Amino acid sequence: MPTALIQGASRGIGLQFCQVLVNRGTTVIACCRNPGSAESLQVLKEEHPSLVSIVPLDVTSETAIEAGAQHVQQAHTAQLDLVINCSGILSPTGRGETSLKEVSFKNLEETFAVNTFGPLLMGRYFSPLLQSGTGRVGQQHPDPRHAHTGVLVNMSARVGSISDNGLGGWYSYRMSKAALNMATKNLSIELGRGRKKVICVALHPGTVDTDLSRPYHKNVPKGKLFTKEQSVSYLLSVIDNLSMDDTGKYLAFDGSSIPF
Ligand SMILES: NC(=O)c1ccc[n+]([C@@H]2O[C@H](COP(=O)([O-])OP(=O)(O)OC[C@H]3O[C@@H](n4cnc5c(N)ncnc54)[C@H](OP(=O)(O)O)[C@@H]3O)[C@@H](O)[C@H]2O)c1
Repeated sequence: MPTALIQGASRGIGLQFCQVLVNRGTTVIACCRNPGSAESLQVLKEEHPSLVSIVPLDVTSETAIEAGAQHVQQAHTAQLDLVINCSGILSPTGRGETSLKEVSFKNLEETFAVNTFGPLLMGRYFSPLLQSGTGRVGQQHPDPRHAHTGVLVNMSARVGSISDNGLGGWYSYRMSKAALNMATKNLSIELGRGRKKVICVALHPGTVDTDLSRPYHKNVPKGKLFTKEQSVSYLLSVIDNLSMDDTGKYLAFDGSSIPF
């Protein structure tokens, strides 16, 4: 059975990934910054002690990411088949900026730390474990020269698309996700070289009923707000079908490409 590591596993989409993967028999290493307050994750671990481990990891700390990778390698496994970076904030206030007056260096920096810098450094410190993976997540390419060992997913958002930006606003969030998409593309190039290739993709989960989107639910057209269950089920179908042909792509929950 594969081994997956979910970063940002305490709530929302990350927690839902853990629940569904465990139900599939996948071994899950769930990373979150404050395990003591991640009650639903603790319950999942109690229900499935042999499949779930919880690792403390604040994605805004490079020291914590490096220590987390060392701990996983020493205490759990040196082989990962899937890493999903799920942490994300709209901004430290919980809302996107509506005008320039709300933009501040501090808030930009904090949003980038959670949404962009941390996920990229997760790639740096955890990619050796993905390069030692068994390639059991995704579809192996028919040409063995394009076989992969692991899959790295960065949870992006459609609002990170520069060409799709018709409304403006949400400076920190949009910029952090656009930069995350660039990081994902770069990762796909570097980790696509050599014999041990890692598929790297940026995924948009749809608009999902979680704490992050809650302030904006009333603006979402009826039927367009996904439950966490719906979103993760769609995203896992996309992930299950990824091959090296898809590396570097920015994909929506239905598998369609989003223009950068
Ligand atoms: N919901 C949507 O409609 C939507 C749409 C597009 C994209 N996305 C993306 O999907 C991903 C998951 O979002 P969600 O909707 O599930 O949000 P959520 O329910 O608000 O969960 C956010 C997660 O990020 C974690 N996090 C925040 N700061 C962190 C830090 N410093 N270190 C480690 N973890 C940290 C939170 O942990 P704590 O519990 O410790 O705070 C929580 O687990 C995000 O990247 C988001 O941008 C969501």
